[in-house]
Amino acid sequence: MSEKTDEWQVARRRKKRPERRPERSPARGHGGGPHGGGPQEVDSKKTLRRIEETMSELRCGDVWLDWSKVLSASSATASTPSPADGAPESPVGRQERSSTGARPPGPDCVCYGLGSFSSCVSARYQLAMLLLLLETLQVTPGRCSVFDPVFSEGELDVLRQLDLTVLTENEEGKRLVKRPTIFYLMHCGKALYNNLLWRNWKRETLPLLTIIGNSFSGIQTIGRELQRDYGYIDQAVAVCEERRLPCPPRLLDVFNDTAVITFPDSDLGKLPQCTWADPAEPRYEACPDLEIILRDG
Ligand SMILES: C[S@@+](CC[C@H](N)C(=O)[O-])C[C@H]1O[C@@H](n2cnc3c(N)ncnc32)[C@H](O)[C@@H]1O
Repeated sequence: MSEKTDEWQVARRRKKRPERRPERSPARGHGGGPHGGGPQEVDSKKTLRRIEETMSELRCGDVWLDWSKVLSASSATASTPSPADGAPESPVGRQERSSTGARPPGPDCVCYGLGSFSSCVSARYQLAMLLLLLETLQVTPGRCSVFDPVFSEGELDVLRQLDLTVLTENEEGKRLVKRPTIFYLMHCGKALYNNLLWRNWKRETLPLLTIIGNSFSGIQTIGRELQRDYGYIDQAVAVCEERRLPCPPRLLDVFNDTAVITFPDSDLGKLPQCTWADPAEPRYEACPDLEIILRDG
């Protein structure tokens, strides 16, 4: 996560102090923030080649095979590729079928918090995995929106060359979905997950979400803090379905603690009815260690 070169380094989930906006210095470890570095600072050709190489490496290794199995067993992603894949169709898939019976064009995708993939090996692996995922689910890159306030201009340029949709606004994770959507949030702060859950906190909407990110049950160990500051995660832990994504030891810093998280409609009924009424927007005023970059103002 924090490497500046291609050397492997130990990089654990990093705690961030709350920030209003990233600094503009191109010298920042995570790439300099929006407009922090010019396109000249990232060799886009080299970066694209490395991403391609990383995709090939992942494609050939066990990790992708293992992930594919878990993903195809997971309800929301299983509904996507082709009826010939043998995977059972999810309720979401059935719900999305049009009256003509035509199969919908798969889920949308949103990736927050990838990090500086031109300088950070973990982020590059995560990006390569995202691209493989899109390929397999037959989601065209344009239907995948990406945002991280630390992306440099050069990285934004690379993402556009990959045909991904680069978001220009910091949504703080508060994106309301109207159709099945995969959120790819690798090693992101709890506030991003909590905001996402809040924005979609409706019995009919939560089942549309598939989150590929940090396991919620791992976060649960924080106990009281979770209940006080991240109430939506705290409630979701009890009703979500988590499938752990396997991680080989050599990629521990990249994919450790990762799971596919879905919200089966049948389990949401276990939450008290009052939880759905007028869910309050999270404020995090008492959070000493907020791991999210907030938008200005
Ligand atoms: C702990 S780092 C993880 C980086 C990378 N995915 C990894 O595993 O090394 C968390 C990332 O979340 C990003 N982040 C913080 N606030 C965000 C926001 N409002 N929207 C999207 N990403 C955000 C940070 O810039 C940072 O890159």
